[in-house]
Amino acid sequence: MAVLKRNRLSRQADRHHLYQESVQDTESEIDFVVETWAALRKRPAELLREDFCGTANTACEWIRRDPQHYAIGVDLDGEVLNWGRINNVQRMSGEQQARIRLLQDNVLDVATELADIVLAMNFSYYLFLTREDLLEYFRSVRDGLVEDGILFLDAYGGYDAPKEIVEERECDDFTYVWEQASFNPIDATMNCHIHFKFPDGSEMDKAFSYYWRLWSLPEIRELLEEAGFSDVTVYWEGTDKKNNEGNGIYEPATVGDADPGWVCYVVAQR
Ligand SMILES: C[S@@+](CC[C@H](N)C(=O)[O-])C[C@H]1O[C@@H](n2cnc3c(N)ncnc32)[C@H](O)[C@@H]1O
Repeated sequence: MAVLKRNRLSRQADRHHLYQESVQDTESEIDFVVETWAALRKRPAELLREDFCGTANTACEWIRRDPQHYAIGVDLDGEVLNWGRINNVQRMSGEQQARIRLLQDNVLDVATELADIVLAMNFSYYLFLTREDLLEYFRSVRDGLVEDGILFLDAYGGYDAPKEIVEERECDDFTYVWEQASFNPIDATMNCHIHFKFPDGSEMDKAFSYYWRLWSLPEIRELLEEAGFSDVTVYWEGTDKKNNEGNGIYEPATVGDADPGWVCYVVAQR
C-alpha cells in the first residue's frame, strides 16, 4: 500500500536530530579535548567556547563532564540555536543549564570572557573562503583565549576529498548521504550536501548544504602560525592492524598516510 505523503518518514524526521545522530560524536571529541589538555597543561580547563556551535551538542557534553566546566556556544543562526536550547540545553539539570550560554553572533565579532579552550568542529571554519578571512578568524580566536589557552580544530582531506562523489552510510533508522556536488580546482571551493534516506523510500534532500573551501593542512598550519599561535600540532589517527581502519586514537604527527579520506585534529596553543 502506498504511504500517504504526510506519513512518510522524511516528513516526520527532524534534520537536526538526524545530523546529531549521523555526523557528531561529541563524546569522543570531548574525550580528545580533555586528554590533550591534560597532557599539555598542569591546570584544569574551565571555560570552553564552541564556535559554529549549531545545536551546542558538544558544549553540552563539556558541561556534563565536570561541575567546574562552563561553556559559551556561538552561532549565526537563531533557528539552530533555538533547537539546541530546547533539545540539548534544557534537557540538562538546572545547575548544568546555568553554566552554559548560547550567543547568536558572528565568530569574527563575538566578544566574550577569555576562554581556556576554543573549539571549532566539523570543519566549520572551511566556510571562510579566503586567506584573509581565515587569518582574521584565527587572530580573533587567539585574542579570545587566556594566555595558555588552546584552539582545537578538526580537518579533513585525502585524494577523494575534491572528487564529485556521493557516499552513503547506514545509521540506525536511516541512511546518511554525503554529496560532494561540485569542486572548483581554481579556488578549491566546493558545494556539499547532506541528504537523508528512509526505509520507506522517502528522502530528505539537501537537509544541510555547505559552500566551503577545501583547505589543506599546510595552509591551515601556516595561517595559525601567522595568526601568532606558538605551537601548532597535527594529531593523526592511528591504524587498527586487524582491519587496516582508523583506530580512533589521535597522536601528534609530522607524517601522515596518503589515505583517500582522512580526518585529523589540529591543536593550536596560544
Ligand atoms: C557545519 S555546521 C557545524 C555544527 C557543529 N559545530 C558541529 O560540530 O557539527 C556550521 C555552523 O556554523 C554556523 N556559522 C556559519 N558561519 C558562521 C559565522 N561566521 N559565525 C558563527 N556561526 C557561523 C552555521 O549557522 C552552522 O550552524
